Amino acid sequence: MADLLNKPAQTNPSSRSAPEPFFLVIFGASGDLTRRKLIPAVYNLYQQGLLPKIFFVIAFARRDNSDENFRLQMHQAIQQFSPVASDNLKSWEQFAPHLIYHQANFEDMEGFGALKEKIHHLAARHNIAENCLFYLATQPRYFPVIVQSLADTDLARPTQPCACWQRLVVEKPFGSDLQSSRQLTLQIQKTFSEKQIFRIDHYLGKESVQNLLVFRFANSIFEPLWNNNYIDHVQISVTESIGVESRGAYYEQAGALRDILQNHIMHLLSLIAMEPPVRLDADAIRDEKVKIIRALRPIPPQCVGNDVVRAQYSADASGNQPVPGYLEEPGVAADSVTETFFALKAFIDNWRWAGVPFYIRSGKRMPVRITEIGIHFKPVPNVLFNTGKIAPMLPNMLTIRIQPNEGISLQFQVKTPGPEMRIQPFKMDFGYSDSLGATPPDAYQRLLLDALLGDSTLFARSDEVEAAWNFVDPIIAGCNDIALQKLPQYPAGSWGPKLADNLIIADNRMWTLTRRTNPR
Ligand code: BG6
Repeated sequence: MADLLNKPAQTNPSSRSAPEPFFLVIFGASGDLTRRKLIPAVYNLYQQGLLPKIFFVIAFARRDNSDENFRLQMHQAIQQFSPVASDNLKSWEQFAPHLIYHQANFEDMEGFGALKEKIHHLAARHNIAENCLFYLATQPRYFPVIVQSLADTDLARPTQPCACWQRLVVEKPFGSDLQSSRQLTLQIQKTFSEKQIFRIDHYLGKESVQNLLVFRFANSIFEPLWNNNYIDHVQISVTESIGVESRGAYYEQAGALRDILQNHIMHLLSLIAMEPPVRLDADAIRDEKVKIIRALRPIPPQCVGNDVVRAQYSADASGNQPVPGYLEEPGVAADSVTETFFALKAFIDNWRWAGVPFYIRSGKRMPVRITEIGIHFKPVPNVLFNTGKIAPMLPNMLTIRIQPNEGISLQFQVKTPGPEMRIQPFKMDFGYSDSLGATPPDAYQRLLLDALLGDSTLFARSDEVEAAWNFVDPIIAGCNDIALQKLPQYPAGSWGPKLADNLIIADNRMWTLTRRTNPR
C-alpha cells in the first residue's frame, strides 16, 4: 500500500465559508428521505459547526403532527441512520428547537400563507434575511403544484428584489422522459430561474465521485493514457443487494433504466470520459459533462433487442432468509415487465473514445452492493513476457471503487520471487478508510451544504438531464416495442442473466467484478 506523503492537504482556492442564516423547507417531510437522509445530514453539518447560528428546518407535510412529536421521530431516525452522530444528547437538545413542523396540503393556499407568515415572523424575531431553500422530497407528481403554490403566495420569485435568496432542490427522477423533463423545467422556470434550481442526484455528492475529477486532473500520469490509444474498454457496474423494498409502486414506473442509467450512471460516465474543464466552476464542468452525454452513440429502438439485456429478479430461497421475487413485491403488478437489471454496451463517438466500448450494467438483488468503474488498459504485445508460455497476462487495470470501501487500485505485473521467470498480477491500493483513516461523509451532507451556499457544481443542469433522456428514451421505446409476456428472470443473489455475460464474452472480455467476487 502506498504511504501518504508528509504533506498537508492542499485547499482549493474556492474553499467555502459558512452559509448565511436560512430556512430549509422540506416538502414531503414525513417520507423516508427526510428521516433517512435529510435530517441526519443537517444534524451532522450542525455538529461539525458548518451551519450558521440561526437556521430553521421547516418540515412541510400533509400528516397531522406536532413540533414535539416530529422532533422525537427525527431523534429516533438519527439514532437509527446516523448512530455515531446521535451519541451526544446535549448537542441533540440544542439542535432540536431548529426543527419546526408545518402541516398543510400541497395545493392549500392557506397552508402556504401560514408558512409565509411563519418565515416572516421568525426572520423578524431573529433579525435575519428570509433566505429559503425549498426542498421537493415528495413524489414527482407534486413538484409542479408545490412550485405553483410557492409562486401564488409570493414565497418564491425568479428575481429577488430583497437582499435574500430562494433556491429549489428537486429530487430525482427529473421527469420520466425527455418531454416531461422539458415540461417540468419550463413549469419550474416560471417561478425559479435556472440558477436557482438545484437538480439533485446524490451520486454527485459521493466523495469518491468527486474524487474522479481530482484523480484525473490533479495527476499528470494518467491523462496522457486516458484515450483510445491505451484504453481497451471501460466497465461500469452499479449493483445492489437489496430489492425494491417498499418502493414497488415507484419502481414500476421507473425500472432500472430510469432509476439508475438516466442519472447515476450518466454522471459517472461523463466524469470519467469528459475533457478537462477550462475552470473548476459549475458551468465549465457541466459544459464538458454534457458534451460526453451528447456524444453517446444512440441505441435505436430496433437495436434494443440485440444490444440491451434486461431482466427481473426472481425469488431466492437459498439463504437463511428467503427473499421474494420482483413480481411478489408489494406494489408490483403480477405480470409486470419492468426491469430490475440491465446491461448494455455504449460508445462515445468523439476523438478521445472512438472505438472504446463502455460496458454498463446495474441490478437489484445481486450478490453484493458495489459501484465501481474499471478502466482496462490494452494488453502488452505478444512478445517477451506475454507469449504463449507465460500468457495470458492480465492487462493493467485501474479500479475506481465508488462504494463501498471507497478507493482506487492499480493492477500491474510483478515477477514472482524465485529462480523461474514467473509473473503475477499485483494491486497497489488506495482506500479512503485504510489510507486516510476517513469514512467519507454521506452524500447529502455535501449536497445540502452546497445548495445552502449556492454552489451548483454538483447538481445537474437542464441540458445535462435532457441529453441523458435523449440517450435513454429510444432504449425505453425499444423495450416497449418488444411485446413481452414475461421478462427473463435471474435468481435473487446471482449476477444477473446469462445473456448479460454473453454480451461481454462475445467481445472476448469478462465482467471483472463477477470474476473477482466469486459467482454463486
Ligand atoms: C436511488 C435509487 O437513486 O439510488 C434507488 O432510486 C437505489 O433505487 C439508490 O437503491 C442507490 O443509492 P446508493 O447510494 O445506495 O448507491
